[in-house]
Amino acid sequence: MMFKEEESGTAQRFSLHGHWSSRLAFVLAVTGSAVGLGNIWKFPYIAGENGGGAFVMVYLVCVVAIGLPVMMAEILIGRRGRRNPVATMALLGEEEGASRQWKWLGIMGVVAGILILSYYSVVAGWTLAYIPKSMSGAFSGATVEDVEVIFTNLIGSWVSVTIAHTLFMASTVFVVAHGVERGLEQAVRFMVPALLLLMLVLLGYAVTSGGFAAGVSFMFTTDFDALTWDGVLQAMGQAFFTLSLGMGAVMAYGAYLPEETSITGSSASVVAADTLFAILAGLVIFPLVFANNLDPAEGPGLVFVTLPLAFGQMAGGAFFGAVFFIVLSIAAWTSALGLVEPGVAWVVEHFGRTRMQASVMVGGTIWALGLGTALSFNVLSDVIFLRGTIYQNVEYLTSNIILPLGGLLITVFAGWVMCRNSTSEELGGAGNTYKLWRFLARYIAPAAILLVFLEAIGIIG
Ligand code: PHE
Repeated sequence: MMFKEEESGTAQRFSLHGHWSSRLAFVLAVTGSAVGLGNIWKFPYIAGENGGGAFVMVYLVCVVAIGLPVMMAEILIGRRGRRNPVATMALLGEEEGASRQWKWLGIMGVVAGILILSYYSVVAGWTLAYIPKSMSGAFSGATVEDVEVIFTNLIGSWVSVTIAHTLFMASTVFVVAHGVERGLEQAVRFMVPALLLLMLVLLGYAVTSGGFAAGVSFMFTTDFDALTWDGVLQAMGQAFFTLSLGMGAVMAYGAYLPEETSITGSSASVVAADTLFAILAGLVIFPLVFANNLDPAEGPGLVFVTLPLAFGQMAGGAFFGAVFFIVLSIAAWTSALGLVEPGVAWVVEHFGRTRMQASVMVGGTIWALGLGTALSFNVLSDVIFLRGTIYQNVEYLTSNIILPLGGLLITVFAGWVMCRNSTSEELGGAGNTYKLWRFLARYIAPAAILLVFLEAIGIIG
């Protein structure tokens, strides 16, 4: 057996996959997983579809009141179990006197990661395709119509989209196969500052675009009449998605966390950084939407039209545009690693495969599933059921159902199933911060998630 265990406590438990070299490495890795397409692509477009301000407000409340305690719960569970999410849930379920069947929560996470990455990779592929387009000056001086044509042609071509999706999945498998520690840490160290810098450059542009006031008011004027319960569910789903919660990514990363690192402090830093990026993205994109008479509710294509437009009108825009899409691809890449890690760690531990074999197996499955999304923008665009296209169904199911449900079960586990001693040991004592966390994890987060669920599916309200 590779795990050393002492009867009393868990201090002797080691992860089979190694540990982060420092607290900074862990914070960077989780931040790298959190900051991605969710912040820059998804947040603006779903905020736009849901009318802006009130949605943003609900999203922020969810991030702080639900996201933060759930993140702490996920990390502490991961570190205590020190295995892949499936084995960790089974182990702790038993150890805390409940049941090994909690493993199903881990399995749901593995499946969610696979489903999310299947469409995430397609969108990341669009980002990759935009790098040579920017570089070649395709957007220089382009009008709204020009950019819309470029985007529509790209997603309309199943060949281009499939090639880009394949490239992105291949590079994800490549890094995961080599183990996450060094590759990942280095990528994030450069990615987060570079992305921040470029967002600030774009912000400067947005401020002078003539639409800044309209953009800010769209984002921060809270008209709750415009918000439906489904919109609230989407805001909550987005809070989970953007923080990489509810599917075991953070749990898997937590398994490699050194014993002495503060979970509370690390979680707070990640949540703050992630929120900063989402707000910045909104402040860049909505002014451009209004300055160019675009529709904020235009959907997944929103940033792929607004940003090239901005770059096309800027001095040196071809260069900055290419750099931006490179950095965004890297941000997506570091997030993709978090999406596959639970599955890969599970295959390694459960089936005794090498990391390389496991990465290829899990990555190949995701690639094949991703074809559904890749084709749903062209060849299969007429296949419409439930929520819309294949892409729209996978997206809705994962973000709005599986992630909140996973988050609910994770807080219930940490707040109700695990005993006070176990959780306070992981969170560094039973002081006021701990009491606040426990209150949020036991009552507020589960109640809020349930309420939103029940309202959205029409059981109450
Ligand atoms: N948080 C990532 C983003 O916002 C997506 C993600 C979800 C990554 C779940 C890992 C796990 O882009």
